Amino acid sequence: MRPKLEVKDVSYSYHELTGETVALSHITFDVKDGEFFAVVGPSGCGKSTLLSLLCGLLKPEEGTVLIDGIPHGENSAVIGYMLQRDHLFEWRSILSNVSLGPEIRRRQAGAHAASRDELLSMLRTYGLENFSNSRPSQLSGGMRQRAALIRTLAVKPDILLLDEPFSALDYQTRLEVCDDISSIIKTQKKTAVLITHDLSEAISVADRILVLSSRPGRVKAVLTIRFAEAVRPLERRNAPEFPVYFNQLWKELTGNETSE
Ligand SMILES: Nc1ncnc2c1ncn2[C@@H]1O[C@H](COP(=O)(O)OP(=O)(O)OP(=O)(O)O)[C@@H](O)[C@H]1O
Ligand SMILES: [Mg+2]
Repeated sequence: MRPKLEVKDVSYSYHELTGETVALSHITFDVKDGEFFAVVGPSGCGKSTLLSLLCGLLKPEEGTVLIDGIPHGENSAVIGYMLQRDHLFEWRSILSNVSLGPEIRRRQAGAHAASRDELLSMLRTYGLENFSNSRPSQLSGGMRQRAALIRTLAVKPDILLLDEPFSALDYQTRLEVCDDISSIIKTQKKTAVLITHDLSEAISVADRILVLSSRPGRVKAVLTIRFAEAVRPLERRNAPEFPVYFNQLWKELTGNETSE
């Protein structure tokens, strides 16, 4: 079967008056339909640049990015993008924030988006039903992230791109929200690409992990993650395979044998 997302020999540089910054160099990988794919790498290695290329905000200088075999601009794939900050609008209620995508999409002919009933049902599923009329500032950090995810899912994206979506949360909330959000994505069988600098987070959610080198980002390794029994992220963290994968990733990133 054709991969959902194909990145073929992609390079990207930023050009400024002061000079050129090569952000990514000859990146090749693919993501299967329904796969949860994570990308890790040192700060500044080009992870956010990669996500902008995947969603078509930037165009590769060299190489191609294909979704269902078709380049950006020519395909009708809907891409959901969730950023580190939730970008909820304070002057809108939670219901009206999550309706924003569908409101915009409905103006486009033939576009699919969640109906009001579907949005209310999603708010119920994700524990926000009593907050549909609240303002974002009345919600906790974790609830805001869940609202942001619902808003992203409301446009019925084919692919979800997540750029460090949990990094603004405290540790405990981060574990809980990550557990919630990855179950939501898996239940809905979405294809997802998660950027994170947290190795444990990547191991706890991903089917495969791409390791990038320091800038310019190059593919160092792609690890397949398989747990015999643990399914949810919190269960994975306590499973015997977890430290083995952690040390393997650590070795790929640093060149050292163990994290101790
Ligand atoms: N708009 C821009 N103009 C010029 N240089 C940029 C621009 N955006 C990013 N860069 C440079 O490109 C490189 C890669 O940046 P990018 O934001 O993709 O890294 P990152 O891996 O996401 O980093 P972090 O882990 O800190 O989020 C960095 O050296 C950065 O300074
Ligand atoms: Mg970044």
